Formats: sequence, C-alpha cells, structure tokens
Amino acid sequence: MQDFSRLEAQLRQTLPTGRIEPQTLPVCPEITLGLINADFPEGPLPPEVMHEVIARPAYWAFCWGSGLALARYLLDYPDRIRDRAVLDLGSGSGVVAIAAALAGARRVVACDNDPHALHAVEVNAAANGVNVEPCKDLIEAGSGYDLLLMADVLYDASNLGLLADAAGVAKDVLVADSRISSLPNPHYRQIATMSALTFPNLGEFDEFGTVRLFQRR
Ligand SMILES: C[S@@+](CC[C@H](N)C(=O)[O-])C[C@H]1O[C@@H](n2cnc3c(N)ncnc32)[C@H](O)[C@@H]1O
Repeated sequence: MQDFSRLEAQLRQTLPTGRIEPQTLPVCPEITLGLINADFPEGPLPPEVMHEVIARPAYWAFCWGSGLALARYLLDYPDRIRDRAVLDLGSGSGVVAIAAALAGARRVVACDNDPHALHAVEVNAAANGVNVEPCKDLIEAGSGYDLLLMADVLYDASNLGLLADAAGVAKDVLVADSRISSLPNPHYRQIATMSALTFPNLGEFDEFGTVRLFQRR
C-alpha cells in the first residue's frame, strides 16, 4: 500500500486537522487516490486557517466531478487514447492522467502549476501502478502531443486563453467542465454530457453535477 503520509503533511500546511486516505473512486473503481477524508473539517474554521485554505486551496486533495467524468470516458473509450502521447493540463490529484495511462496511452505528462499537486500525481500514479511524468507549465510540457486533456480548469477565467493555446500543443483536445455550459471559442463542440460529483462530496450546487465534454474541431 502506498504511503500517503507526505501528502497528509502537505495538506496540513493549510488544513491542520485534515487527513489523506486511500479512496477508491465512485464511477471509476479502477482507480484509488489519496484524497481528503470524507468527513473533512468544513466550517466554522479559525480565521487564520480559513485564510490559508482560500489562499492556497488544496485542489489536489479532491477528485473533481469533471476529472471523474473524463476519467470514466477515457476508460470506456480506450481507442481514443491507446498508444497516444497525452498531456493532462491542471492535473490536480492526477485522476485524468492515471486514467489515460490505464487506458493504454503511450506517454502521459501531468501539468499543474501547484507543486503540491505534482507531488500528489507522483504518489497517486505509483499507487495505481502507472507512469506519469510531472511538469509545472506549458513551456516545460512543450508541444507535439496527440491529445490534450483539461478537466475543471476553466473555473479560473484567466485560463480561458488555454482553449486557444491548446491548438499549438496537441492535435486533439478534450475539455471536461461542470462550471460553464458553453465554451467561448468557436473551435470547440460539445460531444457528451455526463453526471459526476466532486469526491469526497463538497456539497456543491446541483448544477455542478452536470459535466460537459467538449472536443476541439
Ligand atoms: C479544480 S482542480 C481539477 C483537478 C483535476 N483535473 C480533477 O478534475 O480532479 C484544477 C487544477 O488545475 C490547476 N491549474 C489551474 N490553472 C492552471 C494553469 N494555468 N496551469 C496549470 N495548472 C493549473 C490547479 O492547481 C488545480 O490543481
């Protein structure tokens, strides 16, 4: 069994009473990740803890609904990914990168601008017996990929430009998102709608349980 203690130590830098536990994913029972305990401390948190949680959110400690849905899609349609070189941008826990590797991708690179997320990817990939290469940004990632994957990264409006940048990175692009219903870029069309909740459950609004999958034309 993988040792998740270093992930727990990095979570506790912002949430001192949080725990990291190995959790098999709903919808994707093929994957087990080190994630925050389901009864994680919510509020009221002391103001200094609340400040840290907001300033340095541990996104990697959750498997987001869009990542869960995209992982299921890749596992269900391995022909889309087998033998391909794949970049997962905004990888968080690594759920999408790990699903890509399990589905037969030739090379998987996970990119996240949070160093804690890259450590989570490393630990979680090992826990699932797959190889995923970490990188911190698109410059380090380079180009020439067959497929670029993005799940739940458009919550930050400054990331909308990635939709255009994607064309220079990979031949094909798949974007999964539960936050926006249409992409402000004419090169993308919606190809599927799925239901998935962030895990452990964050108690988000019902509308965030609908994940849309977009493909770049
Ligand atoms: C909401 S989480 C989604 C994680 C994962 N894809 C999932 O679905 O579980 C968004 C992740 O994207 C990362 N991120 C946000 N903007 C980014 C950017 N411009 N470049 C790289 N990573 C980014 C954040 O650090 C965070 O780990």
